[in-house]
Amino acid sequence: MSDNKIHIFDTTLRDGEQVPGCKLNTREKIELALSLEALGVDIIEAGFPISSPGDFESVNEISKIIKNATVCGLTRAVQKDIEVAGEALKYAKRPRIHTGIGSSDNHIKYKFNTTREDIVERAIKAVKLAKNFVDDVEFYAEDAGRADLPFLAKLIESVIGAGATVVNIPDTTGYCLPHQYGAIIAYLKNNVSNIDRAIISCHCHNDLGLATANSIAGALNGARQIECTINGLGERAGNTALEEVVMVLKQHKELGLYTDVNTKLLHPLSRQVSETMRVPTQPNKAIVGANAFSHSSGIHQDGFLKEATTYEIIDPAEVGADLSKIVLTARSGRSALAFRLHKLGYQFNRDEIDELYQLFLQVADSKKEVMDNDLHDMIPESLKVAVTA
Ligand code: KIV
Ligand code: ZN
Repeated sequence: MSDNKIHIFDTTLRDGEQVPGCKLNTREKIELALSLEALGVDIIEAGFPISSPGDFESVNEISKIIKNATVCGLTRAVQKDIEVAGEALKYAKRPRIHTGIGSSDNHIKYKFNTTREDIVERAIKAVKLAKNFVDDVEFYAEDAGRADLPFLAKLIESVIGAGATVVNIPDTTGYCLPHQYGAIIAYLKNNVSNIDRAIISCHCHNDLGLATANSIAGALNGARQIECTINGLGERAGNTALEEVVMVLKQHKELGLYTDVNTKLLHPLSRQVSETMRVPTQPNKAIVGANAFSHSSGIHQDGFLKEATTYEIIDPAEVGADLSKIVLTARSGRSALAFRLHKLGYQFNRDEIDELYQLFLQVADSKKEVMDNDLHDMIPESLKVAVTA
């Protein structure tokens, strides 16, 4: 396996499903898991088996069906959680238990009311127990983004010593700036003696809108797994958006990093997730939003119609999106109007377009978007003879 591959750990079915109102049943989870596998993700976090009988069943059924991806179940560093996850994953071809505990002083004091020493002991015990069920054990140091670095390094060294194969460094509260998150990964690379025995994973939340930037900063500093969700769904402001990290790495080849995701499936899967979870995607969402490939201002439309790359860095076909759209609004120019009229079968000369453009602006000022039927209606009968088709 290349050292430059970024493993995509999809947590749409676990962290994504934590969004209020997004709960999925087993059938919905199985359908999405199959689509995620077809997309080419490396790991599917299928759920939190101890959390409910329904989630146990989902992880169990997904384990039976998924052939290539690793199937992962979440636990706390608690004996019963780990035993139940081991049972839920027993049919998986590539099972992984994802266990962990809080690592910042804030979590240690307020959530666990304990000491750093006790946290290290519980973490080691959890990893060792998980190893009885599966070879592949991922450890998460919750709230690592705000943890004391020497302590975090000690904790990570201890869990790798206990057998963790992947160490997850979550910015649970979405607090870090990209250079800070990158520095945490670099610190662990340089200060954890056995770090080469594990893959470092980024799990970044989007509270400040920096989840993707932080994950990329982590990868640039040596992380080789990124945890993400389709459409960036997840707790509070969400997680790193899978489509964003994948396309950042694809667009910026100079970074020398890649994923195995089939980007042509990004749009169809984004729609499937949005429909199944009943969460509309914001129109201006990067890569998968309805406006990601539409052009509405006259200056942009004119440039785009001359040469698409003037205003588009991604070919929509590369991410499975519909063709780019020219949206007609009061900010559109003559080129866009002429382009659309031509598509509708009209042939007008320059003077006619000038005349029609004044009519168009009157219509456009009264509407959010000018549609094809508006154009048909606004053309004076005297000019309609110009229809070619
Ligand atoms: O945000 C977080 O810290 C998590 C862990 C459970 C990995 O979701
Ligand atoms: Zn999370």
